[in-house]
Amino acid sequence: MTTETSQLTSAPQMLLAMQLVGGFGGAPGAWRMPGVPLDSYTDMDAHVRHAQAAERGKVQLLFFADTPALETDLNVQPQRHVIDPVVVMTSIARETKRIGLVATASTTFNEPYNIARQFKAMDVISHGRIGWNAVTTSNPEAAANFGVAVPPRPEKYGRAHEVIQVVEALWGSWGTDALIGDVAAGIYADASKIQPINLGGQYVASRGPLPIPPSEQGQPVIFQAGGGQNGLELAGRYADGVYANPYDIASAKAQRDALRAAAVAAGRNADDIKMFAGFMPTVGATKRDALDRRRALDESIDLRQRVAYLGHMIGLPLRYEDIDQSVPEQVLERAVANPSDPRSDHALAVVREGWSLRDVIAHGVIDYHPVVADTPERIADFMQEWFEAGACDGFSLSIDSLHDGVDAFVDEVVPILQERGIFHRDYEGATLRDNIHAAPRYGRDPRVIGES
Ligand SMILES: Cc1cc2nc3c(=O)[nH]c(=O)nc-3n(C[C@H](O)[C@H](O)[C@H](O)COP(=O)(O)O)c2cc1C
Repeated sequence: MTTETSQLTSAPQMLLAMQLVGGFGGAPGAWRMPGVPLDSYTDMDAHVRHAQAAERGKVQLLFFADTPALETDLNVQPQRHVIDPVVVMTSIARETKRIGLVATASTTFNEPYNIARQFKAMDVISHGRIGWNAVTTSNPEAAANFGVAVPPRPEKYGRAHEVIQVVEALWGSWGTDALIGDVAAGIYADASKIQPINLGGQYVASRGPLPIPPSEQGQPVIFQAGGGQNGLELAGRYADGVYANPYDIASAKAQRDALRAAAVAAGRNADDIKMFAGFMPTVGATKRDALDRRRALDESIDLRQRVAYLGHMIGLPLRYEDIDQSVPEQVLERAVANPSDPRSDHALAVVREGWSLRDVIAHGVIDYHPVVADTPERIADFMQEWFEAGACDGFSLSIDSLHDGVDAFVDEVVPILQERGIFHRDYEGATLRDNIHAAPRYGRDPRVIGES
């Protein structure tokens, strides 16, 4: 090997998570698209098909947001969370080999022993491919399903810290070398290495031990999402990954920098925490094609309300009756981006390009995540720009309609990212921890400072 070759280091590569929203996809109209099986919400074969397609694209993990409540108007669209993430992930784990599986479980509405047991069991059966997205949940409907009110924020976060600490302690309560399996001597395990944790705090407690041995990655990786300064502190201490929803590069970069600083403040390394920015791609052969696909999906949303909201974003009284018109030049002169909505600058820029209001909305300017409805090259350009600006470590992809949208992303966008050297061509390791380059961990992290 020449000196030059031996000095080569590979360029950083982005990580990809794919959200399997409700079995249909991220767009509310996904269930009405041609050819979509209407039982995609309950049919595990549909979920497995989407998971296997993502695995073909070497996507590092599937991500399941979850709130234990009905959050949609079922008159017009299906539930946006899967029937139960633990059940769905278990079904998928048996039908996939490499892709990671990360599900949300609320620290407010679960006992730590339940979370520890279910997630470590899934981790063992999937051979080390599971992650837990620890969220506090602020939804009153979820609280009502447990017969309580949403607790005040200090209580929610006090409990969240305790729950994560107890879960990690339970995960580590079966010693890594406790299993002996000496058939001749009749010794199954060294029970002295499987000990109670006897951990209790102000909100939760558990005796343990948890009788589940380590998986190939030791224990599940931990994700976190949401919660401002409190959430940042939580992520800094415990999270290997964070699911975030910034709208532009500057705020994404600020959020990523803050997360990295929070990890360091907690006694960990900045690189221990990876930020996945939410992103909604819609793939088309041309931009017109992609916008038309979005327009078909948008038939399920309240466009009258969207037009009014767009007007609010750009400071003009827009009328639904003008939805197929662009905003006239002389009216546009009075437009001002609304500083209270971070998406407004982008919305105004798209309006200024002269699209009809229907097409402006099809650009996804009012969506929950940044949207690119365009060719595979333009989608890859967006991802490359964010990644190379240090705005994120990767993306949490919300696919518009899973039925054909996963294949479109995997077959048309992934090869471009690979060709550009910014996405891997194969899984580096066997476990999720390996594949997102998370630090080794088993039991509570001894580096974390400020814990009781
Ligand atoms: C990007 C993102 C994703 C979230 N995902 C979930 C989720 O899947 N389930 C959930 O119950 N809450 C979720 N939340 C809400 C948080 O758990 C939290 O309740 C919210 O950020 C409000 O913060 P607070 O608890 O400090 O009031 C998410 C928040 C954000 C910003």
